[in-house]
Amino acid sequence: MRRILVTAALPYSNGSIHLGHLLEQIQTDIWVRFQKLYGNECYYFCADDAHGTATMLSAEEAGVSKEEWISRLREEHIKDLQAFGVDHENYYSTHSPENEKLTQEIYLKLLENGAIFTDEVSQLYDSSKELFLADRYVRGKCPRCGAEDQPGDNCDMCGATYAATDLIEPRSVHSDSKPVLKSSTHYFFDLAQFTSFLREWTTSGTVREDVSNKLKEWLESGLKPWDISRDAPYFGFQIPETSNKYFYVWLDAPIGYMASFRNWCDRSGVEFDDFWKPGNDTEVHHFIGKDIVNFHALFWPAVLKCSGFRTPTRIHVHGYITVDGEKMSKSKGTFIKAETYSEFLDPETLRYYYAARLTPTINDIDFSFADFLARVNSDLVGKLVNIPSRCANFLARGFDSQLSTELSEPSLFEEFAASKASIEQLYELGDTAQVVRAVMSLADKANQYIASNPPWELAKQEGKEQELQNTCTLAINLFRTLCVYLKPIVPMLVERSEQFLNSEPLTWNDVDEPLLDHRLGKFKRLMNRIDQKQIDKLIEASKETSAIEPESDEDQITIEDFQKIDLRVAEILDARFVDGADSLLELKLKVGTGERIVFAGIRTAYDPEKLKGRHVVVVANLKPRKMRFGTSEGMVLAAGPGGSDIFLVSPDDGALSGMEVR
Ligand code: MSP
Ligand code: ZN
Repeated sequence: MRRILVTAALPYSNGSIHLGHLLEQIQTDIWVRFQKLYGNECYYFCADDAHGTATMLSAEEAGVSKEEWISRLREEHIKDLQAFGVDHENYYSTHSPENEKLTQEIYLKLLENGAIFTDEVSQLYDSSKELFLADRYVRGKCPRCGAEDQPGDNCDMCGATYAATDLIEPRSVHSDSKPVLKSSTHYFFDLAQFTSFLREWTTSGTVREDVSNKLKEWLESGLKPWDISRDAPYFGFQIPETSNKYFYVWLDAPIGYMASFRNWCDRSGVEFDDFWKPGNDTEVHHFIGKDIVNFHALFWPAVLKCSGFRTPTRIHVHGYITVDGEKMSKSKGTFIKAETYSEFLDPETLRYYYAARLTPTINDIDFSFADFLARVNSDLVGKLVNIPSRCANFLARGFDSQLSTELSEPSLFEEFAASKASIEQLYELGDTAQVVRAVMSLADKANQYIASNPPWELAKQEGKEQELQNTCTLAINLFRTLCVYLKPIVPMLVERSEQFLNSEPLTWNDVDEPLLDHRLGKFKRLMNRIDQKQIDKLIEASKETSAIEPESDEDQITIEDFQKIDLRVAEILDARFVDGADSLLELKLKVGTGERIVFAGIRTAYDPEKLKGRHVVVVANLKPRKMRFGTSEGMVLAAGPGGSDIFLVSPDDGALSGMEVR
């Protein structure tokens, strides 16, 4: 049995989990689930990457403390990832006592071993904010093409790369003031000392060839010292023996992998040193995106080596996600957050689709909605779930859900089991695209078997009872094998299937032994088809709402116009359906001391019984309007896209009836 520690890159405490993070978290989770299912001892760790200037500024902007900000985001990230079945042993934070201790320990070792030196660095500085400016916080004219408002590292217009100090008319993004050059002492890690170690390490099977070739370019052009300090104000850990120097976020971030593990060791009884001291038979695997390869395959192994820890066993690198062939875009609605996805679609549909597209290469992966819809509907629903739905009822009706005592065609069952070794290998390599292909071609075979011995025909014929039971028994056993193979990818679907199979949780070797002479559970629909409408809604809900801004001046109203509207809080005294109107409810409202009737188009979203006693906001001076059902004396405010998603503006926290809304 192998002992394996696995990590996914730590998402920044700076925004929500989106399709890109999910690609990595799901890829890693599938690999971990496979290892566990197979019988290895495997643990999965992650955390939020809390430090850095960006976090500091976001917290400031939100008007909360940094601690409050990172703890909010961490809660949100955990919730989002759990919804997608991503199952970490521990999801910690880099802003933790364990991480501070380990970071200092490691730094002191680097210092002791002569890998740290200091040097003066001149950098742009915002004197009004008293802040050194990272490249992305300086903007100005491109020194090459003269384009306005370009960031401090490269030009979006002509692609030139340059130093922030080369920008023409630079200004600080924070204050719009002109930055000045200021010099200060920085701490450096002398990476070049590790050149020959890294040459060897990066070509010894720790990364695939496509990655090691990329690393070779860096190694050949000479490794530069790595600046590991930042001046105050900075959100991070202070460097020992300094008063205003902090560790750069990228020094303590990977140490966060160890800290997340250590935090969990303290409660699980697993030994920290078993996994991090050299010379043990354990494995450490990191899953990352191609944008952060240098941090994980150069700096990180060198830091570990120099501080007396073990180096990673393997670094699994994936490409970037694009949506319908383009970079994710907020205005096009393709910058999709985890939370929005799970609102409109079953999270396991994403796990399945990603698995179907993921290979061990660093090629980018396109999320194509058409392909997604077709694959989920035709593979998962049409092929896989179709097997039990074609057989379960016949077994329930004629045989009290009892499976036969033997297999009528053991060779077919064995053929399915024979794929085990190759599927194992594919999982190990991270080639889930091939896993899915192999499993779906088996699913085709299972369906062909059913089609050539149709239970619905056998059921009509006298004397074919045994044959019917045998056919369904074999089909259910083939389905069960497919469930084992797909369990790392769609664990929740398989869990529902296990309930139907009425068996213990499936394990890898279950494909060798059929389930016979056994009573099945009740068959319930295992998965629904995806409807294009769900995708449309998802995209619509993901569009950033700058679209609300009116297009021209004519669409705008003045403050005087707005002041004409008399908004008041009203209490709903009574609510009822309106005969002949599918969308309307008739509301009797108490506004101040008076009462009035208002018809509101909220029937698809609200149960009238539950509305009584609630408070809403009403336009009190709207001219009464005669309708077919009566006269509406005002309008209640509600928002939302329609259907069941209409939300009354309901100030039910202490507002008084008749109060003016301003
Ligand atoms: N905080 C660092 C990682 C520190 S690890 C010690 C970071 N955070 S991140 O939030 O920007 O990205 C986290 C992971 O998500 C990275 O591996 C990154 O490659 C991956 N992805 C973020 N956006 C992505 C896509 N659009 N597509 C695929 N993966 C991408 O980097
Ligand atoms: Zn330019």
